[in-house]
This record gives sequence, structure tokens and C-alpha cells, in this order.
Amino acid sequence: MKKIKIINGPNLNLLGIRETSIYGKISFDDYLIQLKKNYNLIEIDYFQSNIEGEIIDKIQDVGFNSYTGIVLNAAAYTHTSVGIADAISAIKTPVIEVHISNIYSREEIRHTSLISKHVQGVICGFGLKSYDLAINALI
Ligand code: DQA
Repeated sequence: MKKIKIINGPNLNLLGIRETSIYGKISFDDYLIQLKKNYNLIEIDYFQSNIEGEIIDKIQDVGFNSYTGIVLNAAAYTHTSVGIADAISAIKTPVIEVHISNIYSREEIRHTSLISKHVQGVICGFGLKSYDLAINALI
């Protein structure tokens, strides 16, 4: 069975509550139910943390075992974290970078991703559907 790990970074635990005009009104837990139905033949695991080191630990945990791929929304750490970029570069499992919003249509600080260079592909701007598209690309 194919296995996908979704890793969400800081503040994404607030989806559905946070800046709903940008990120929508659905919580990730609710979206995940739908996503799992769409891909019922695939194991989809979910991890979220607001802490950079915990995200790095999880990337390392998943990066050398039987996972088919990682769907990573590093959120604000996308723009700042050399540590997460290095972790992606170190592992063997393919990573797709996702963003709910179109980061290139937003403030300039969001136009730079330190992680894009190390991932298989980037999907952004399709709302929560970005995660669905990323899984589709991995399987
Ligand atoms: C985000 C975009 C980031 O710039 C922001 O810091 C986030 C979410 C997105 O999914 O659109 O927290 O990664």
C-alpha cells in the first residue's frame, strides 16, 4: 500500500479560523476526512507542528523508510528555514511543497522559498485542493 505523510508547519493548526479570506473556512481535520475518502487505497498520515525542530525530526523519520512521498506545507518556515531545506535535501523520500495561497501574489517576503530547490515540485494557490493535487502527483 502506498503511504503519504502530510506535514503542516506553523499556524496551520488554525485553518478554518485563521485569515479565512486567504485560507478558507474548513479546518484541516475536516479536509483530511475528505482527502482520505478521495484516496481510499492510500495510507495518508498527518503531522502538524508549530516548532521548526519537530518538523525537521519528522522529515528525517519519514525520509528513509517506506513512505511514497511527503506533502509539505512548511508555512512561514518556507521563507526562513535553512534547517528544513537541509533536511529535505538529506532524505531519500520525494517531497512536494504545497501552499494553500498563491505565495507569488502576496507580500514580497513570501515570494522566496528556501525549500523549493530541494523538492520534486511545488503546488500553490489552489486552496486546500493543493494537497489533493500533490498526492495525485506523488502516486
Ligand atoms: C502558506 C503561505 C505562507 O507564506 C504562510 O506563512 C503560511 C501558509 C500557505 O499555505 O499559503 O502560513 O504556506
